[in-house]
Amino acid sequence: MPPGFPELFRLGDGWEALHMLDQARLPGEECHVALRSAVDVARSIRTLQVRGAPAIGIAGALGLALELRRLARAGTAPAPEAARQAHDLLFAARPTGRNLGWGLRRVLEAFLDGYESDPGGSVDRACDAALGVWEGEVRRCRSIGEHALEVIPDAGATILLHCNAGALATGGLGTATAPLYLAHEQGRTLRAFAGETRPVLQGARLTAWELSRAGIPVTVVTDSMAGALMASGVVDLVIVGADAVAPDGTVVNKIGTYGLAVLADYHAVPFYVAAPSTTLEPRLEAMDIPVEERDDTEVRSCGDRLLVPPDASVWNPAFDRTPPHLITAILTEAGILRPPFAPRLRTLAQDTPGALPDG
Ligand code: MRU
Repeated sequence: MPPGFPELFRLGDGWEALHMLDQARLPGEECHVALRSAVDVARSIRTLQVRGAPAIGIAGALGLALELRRLARAGTAPAPEAARQAHDLLFAARPTGRNLGWGLRRVLEAFLDGYESDPGGSVDRACDAALGVWEGEVRRCRSIGEHALEVIPDAGATILLHCNAGALATGGLGTATAPLYLAHEQGRTLRAFAGETRPVLQGARLTAWELSRAGIPVTVVTDSMAGALMASGVVDLVIVGADAVAPDGTVVNKIGTYGLAVLADYHAVPFYVAAPSTTLEPRLEAMDIPVEERDDTEVRSCGDRLLVPPDASVWNPAFDRTPPHLITAILTEAGILRPPFAPRLRTLAQDTPGALPDG
C-alpha cells in the first residue's frame, strides 16, 4: 500500500481470522471486518466489502486457505472434497474478474499436490500459496507502475481515472494508479480527475479517498461530465483497470469504461488499460466472458433516498466490454503492450509461467 495507508488485509495469529478493510464503508468510516470462514469471505466479496479484481483474487486465495486452516483446527483434517467445495463457493462470489479464479486455483492446486503422500502438510502448502498470490499481486502493481511511468507526461499531467483500480483494489500501488503514485514520489506534478462511477461510486468514494490521502490533487466529476471534460482539452490521458482481458485485447472493466473509450477516441485522448497478467483470460472470447448483473437496488436508491419509481425497471450490469481498436496500449507488469494485442497477449501468457489458468 502507499505509505500511511491502512492495511487492506491483515491475518490474525495462526490464521484464525482475516481482518479486512471494509471498503463498503469508505470514505465515511475506516474500519476492518474479521472474516473467519470461506462463507464470511464469499459474503464480503459479494457485498463489495472487498472489490477490484486483484484484491478479490487475494481475498479469495486467503479465504480458501483460512477455511482449510479452520477445518484442520476443528479437528476435521480437510479432505480434497471439502477443499473443492470451499473453492467453488468462493469462485461463485463474483463471476467477471479473472484474478479470483486464478488465485483460488493456485491455492487448491497447492493443497491437492502432494495430498496423497503428505496430507498433513497440505494446509501449510495452501497457506503458503495464498501468501504467494497476495505478494505476487502487490509486486505486479509496482512493475506496472514502473513501466507505465513512460506514458505520463513529465510535468503537469492531467489523468482521468474511472472506478477504483487503485491501492484499495489490489493491496499494492494499484494498477491504473501505480504510475501516478510513482510519478508523485519522484516529485513530478500531476493531477487526476476521478469519474464518480455510478451506481456504487467507487471513483468518488474510493479513488478520490486514496489519491487525496496520498497528496495527489484529485477532482471528482460525475460520469456524465466526462464528454465535456475531454472536450475542454484538459485531459492528457485516460487510465482504467481491467477485470478481464480477452485474447483479442477486448477489455472487460467497470461499467462506463466503454463510453470513456469512445469519448477518448473522438477527442484523440490516449486511452490506456492497466492490467496484470493475472487478469488475462486465455480461453474465452470477449463475448463469452460473463458480465455480472447486480441487484437493481444499487440503482434504485442512494442511501435511504429512492431515485427510481417502483414501477420502472432497472438494468444494472457491473461491467462493459471495450474493443481493442479503442485502446492505445495495455500497461502490464512485463511492459507496455501496443496493438496488435492478440500476439503480444499470447507472448505475455507464455512468458509468465504460472500466471495464467491452464484450464
Ligand atoms: O465492481 P468492482 O468495484 O469490483 O469493479 C472494479 C473494477 O472494475 C476495476 O477497474 C478492476 O477490477 C481493476 S482493479 C485493479
